[in-house]
Amino acid sequence: MSTHPASTTRPESAGGSVPRHVAIIMDGNGRWAKARGLPRAAGHKAGAESARKVLRAAGEAGVECLTLYAFSSENWRRPQSEINDLMGLLRFYIGSELNAIHKEGVRLKIIGDHRAFQPDVARLVDEAVAKTAGNTRMTLAVALNYGARTEMVLAARTLARRVAAGEMTADQIDDAAIESALDTRDLPPLDLLIRTSGECRLSNFLLWQAAYAELVFLDTLWPDFDGTGLNAAFAEYAARERRYGGL
Ligand code: IPE
Ligand code: IPE
Ligand code: MG
Repeated sequence: MSTHPASTTRPESAGGSVPRHVAIIMDGNGRWAKARGLPRAAGHKAGAESARKVLRAAGEAGVECLTLYAFSSENWRRPQSEINDLMGLLRFYIGSELNAIHKEGVRLKIIGDHRAFQPDVARLVDEAVAKTAGNTRMTLAVALNYGARTEMVLAARTLARRVAAGEMTADQIDDAAIESALDTRDLPPLDLLIRTSGECRLSNFLLWQAAYAELVFLDTLWPDFDGTGLNAAFAEYAARERRYGGL
């Protein structure tokens, strides 16, 4: 066992007031729309605008990586019409935002398995990832068809195959080995996890990575969230004392 698990003891993450890696469960689009007598799709559209604003604000604040939960592996349980609306929105936003994101030096990364999406959407996503692959100012990780348990199951299979192939021994499986097999393997340790809409659960998001992240649950519905809300969450983060089990 490693005595200094990479994701839980990173001095360079522990001290700063701006988190290196922020993840957001963007929740409350449906309730936002309902409160206005609008269809749920209108809530998702407004939510996509929030994502655009928050990406910009995170970049300005100096965040290295922003991870957004856009579609969970459980969201397939929603009506097909809503799934289609979400796919349409993804298609639209890649089309309209890709150039701006690229110009701003943002690398797009996907966690989860977007290959389960409609083929044209999956292809657009692949093209956007390829186009921005060399960007280094910031990473935008979008969770698409993502579930943390599946991510861990796949990591276990990857490591089992490495052992079976004689590339490593079972005893060499430690925290770092598991991290090397997760979708987030190339991202900084998760510092701050925000969920909007008043729900206080993780809904199968980044379960491994959140081990020592600071959690902020806000009542704001996602379409009402913007750079101001993000900066308020950063202030809350800066006031927290991260102890990692120490004193
Ligand atoms: C989050 O908003 C967006 C996705 C899950 C895609 P919801 O659609 O879950 O909104 P509520 O929770 O019903 O208000
Ligand atoms: C989590 O929100 C998934 C995303 C924000 C994409 P949900 O609205 O799907 O979560 P539950 O069902 O309330 O747990
Ligand atoms: Mg929800």
